[in-house]
Amino acid sequence: MTRKLFVTTALPYANAAFHIGHMMEYIQADTWVRFQRLRGHDVHFVCADDVHGAAIMIAADKAGLTPQAFVAQIAAGRQRYLDGFHIAFDNWHSTDAPENHELARSIYLSLRQNELIETRTIEQFFDPDKGMFLADRFIKGECPKCGAKDQYGDNCEVCGAVYAPTDLKNPYSALSGATPVLKSSEHFFFKLSDPRCVAFLESWTQDGRLQPEVANKVREWFVRDETGKVGLGDWDISRDAPYFGIEIPDAPGKYFYVWLDAPVGYLASLKNLLARLDIDFDHYLAQPELEQIHFIGKDIVTFHTLFWPAMLHFSGRKAPDRVYVHGHLTVSGEKMSKSRGTGISPLRYLELGLNAEWLRYYIAAKLNARVEDLDFNPDDFVARVNADLVGKYINIASRAAGFIGKRFDGRLSADMGVEGRIVLDALRAHAEPIATLYEDREFGKAMREVMLLADKVNEYVDQHKPWEIAKRPGQDAALHDVCTVCIEAFRLLTLYLKPVLPALAAQVEAFLRIEPLRWGDAARAMGAHTIGDYRHLMQRVDPKMLDALFEPPPAAAVVAPGGEPLAAEIGIADFSRVDLRVARIMAAERVEGSSKLLRLTLDVGEGIDADGRPRLRTVFSGIASAHQPESLVGQLTVVVANLAPRQMKFGISEGMVLTAGHADEKAHPGLHLLQPGSGATPGLRVR
Ligand code: 2FM
Ligand code: ZN
Repeated sequence: MTRKLFVTTALPYANAAFHIGHMMEYIQADTWVRFQRLRGHDVHFVCADDVHGAAIMIAADKAGLTPQAFVAQIAAGRQRYLDGFHIAFDNWHSTDAPENHELARSIYLSLRQNELIETRTIEQFFDPDKGMFLADRFIKGECPKCGAKDQYGDNCEVCGAVYAPTDLKNPYSALSGATPVLKSSEHFFFKLSDPRCVAFLESWTQDGRLQPEVANKVREWFVRDETGKVGLGDWDISRDAPYFGIEIPDAPGKYFYVWLDAPVGYLASLKNLLARLDIDFDHYLAQPELEQIHFIGKDIVTFHTLFWPAMLHFSGRKAPDRVYVHGHLTVSGEKMSKSRGTGISPLRYLELGLNAEWLRYYIAAKLNARVEDLDFNPDDFVARVNADLVGKYINIASRAAGFIGKRFDGRLSADMGVEGRIVLDALRAHAEPIATLYEDREFGKAMREVMLLADKVNEYVDQHKPWEIAKRPGQDAALHDVCTVCIEAFRLLTLYLKPVLPALAAQVEAFLRIEPLRWGDAARAMGAHTIGDYRHLMQRVDPKMLDALFEPPPAAAVVAPGGEPLAAEIGIADFSRVDLRVARIMAAERVEGSSKLLRLTLDVGEGIDADGRPRLRTVFSGIASAHQPESLVGQLTVVVANLAPRQMKFGISEGMVLTAGHADEKAHPGLHLLQPGSGATPGLRVR
């Protein structure tokens, strides 16, 4: 029976380019989808950019763009990655597309109709400077438990405490530095604690459709306390303007929280695709045999196993059939950051000339159906590609194809001898077990099976030694048979690897002059048939290429101004903690015993001290090689005025003047004093 499959990967936030973790998920899903298609099933495989929410709105603002222009820029970069790694989505859409606005609103209205929406007034931190409510991660302050400074509103990175943003001591807005005020506002809630939702979700999550470790984790939400109350609470689905999102029907100035409309984006992308294919969307989704499957990472399980199925079910739709959860990708054992990834850029991988299918094979070889992290290890990568993929599989073709071409004009033999048929029958017998492994997402096991079969074929070659037979007169028929067995075996192995190596399989099909392989072709032989000329199909990895992948890109690719890369990004709040003031240099003199330092006496506009004299500061600065002291007197400069006084060898320095200097001081000597325009006056703040 032909299965009907609607498959998605998680929708990536449109705030950054893809990192290697995205590619892993896409490779996993794409491999599975390609396998289903080889089996003859109907698949619609879609994705989209997840574009809404405060984080993207703020990032766009920083970039000086509208959110729409900002996400369009990100979207424009996507295709290079997808094509480069042979990820064949049928559609790439956006959660800001009209289909998504319409679907999100309609799902919401059905939930409301079902009496599952409720409004409540809640108190939240509000940034009076920015005029907006602050999400937890935009509030910082001192940890209520350990007192660590600059901790986020939801948890402390120093002691691990978890708290509400209102528990922070001395809270400030990470956007403006302003002290947030508590303000109340009406929010919309999806009543997940309604007994109908609890009953539905408990059964949906525990009926065996989820991976056991996922079902176990989710089960915690249904544990009842002494009063019979479950852990699953109502879900706050609204945010106040200004917000980049979808406006809630009948609630001007209220928007859906990004996580409400994000998964609806799966349906929106599908709807957009089906319109192009002239298929009725509602009819398509209503087919009872349709299987809806989401591939996601372990960090977004709650959204996909509680909120999303409930949204679908209680708006009169079918909940997902499967949610396939994978672990995270680590690189040489290191975790990566969600926005910045690991430092291995997928584009750089391609630009260095590394073959995309090496990565596809490597990832497949390490994937299983469990929620386990997968480590990208460069030595392991080289070993698996060179020893297994090239050394075992590609090698079979290169050992036999030359003889078929040169000695038999490309013709395969009709007979293959008893032993040859035994080898091939053994290979064919694995078509179904390997299919089951693909179906179950046990790609690592599937790759191992294929490599064991390749070992068998190589043993057969080693026993029959075609290179020796070829030298013996009158042994043409034997040579023909052995080489034909190899080519036929190579065709079968290519089929088994085709979900993982689609581009290579297409090259092999061209070389063998056959129609695109489908799973059913395992049972059929090519028969006496003329194949094309063999050209080497895949190189080995040069380990040096991987070294280059891990090195920082060459200076030409990323400009390192002043000899050093830019420091980690900071928010405006970080900047505003540094109090920079204009200062006038009242005196400047060399420091005895130091060739570098000048002692500066500065007027920072701090008024008169108790003796009626202007209050001045002493600051030491290493600018002696670039500046004559006498030329500085009377000049303006900029001082870090709130830097704690530092005891130096020659006295106390009460601040620091701003200077510019190259990272490589020896090659580019000189520290140059920064000077504001002449209209500035001492004490003015630099902002
Ligand atoms: O975690 C993320 O990257 C989200 N953008 C995933 C959204 S998946 C779906 F719900 F859209
Ligand atoms: Zn703490």
